[in-house]
Amino acid sequence: MSTDKQKFKMMIGERVENEKEAVRLLHDSMGKTNNTVIRLLLYQLALDSTKHEHMLRAISKLLETPSKEQFRWEGEEFRKAIENHVEVEREMLEGFEKIVDKTEDKRVRFILEDIISDEKKHHAIMKRVHELVCEGEKVKDEKWWDFLFRYSRLTG
Ligand SMILES: [Fe+2]
Ligand SMILES: [Fe+2]
Repeated sequence: MSTDKQKFKMMIGERVENEKEAVRLLHDSMGKTNNTVIRLLLYQLALDSTKHEHMLRAISKLLETPSKEQFRWEGEEFRKAIENHVEVEREMLEGFEKIVDKTEDKRVRFILEDIISDEKKHHAIMKRVHELVCEGEKVKDEKWWDFLFRYSRLTG
């Protein structure tokens, strides 16, 4: 690995530590208020930081491996697991769609609608993963990146 690449990798490592520290601080601040909504928002930021940490770890991994070795066609066991996730996400989405109209409370509806938009995204992601891993041929790298761009930009 060239010095530039090593430096870049170290910078990614520093970002990981930074996100972990943010999680600690956010949890700490959550303990200082009893406001339900503020606590929820702080917690969501902490979850985002954990997500960023994992994204950064994925970058570190990608930096170590040539691109073509990253994505392979998956075996039967994994394909079955993904089929199950497609159903689980569908059930979650339908479950929330059923209860969202049962309340008049705007605050509650707002939160439930936010969950519904997440569940729609989760279901679409799982359906697309299923399509990709069930293809008989080796999935091309570009297809994965196209997929990631369209469906799994969870920061949206
Ligand atoms: Fe972050
Ligand atoms: Fe979900």
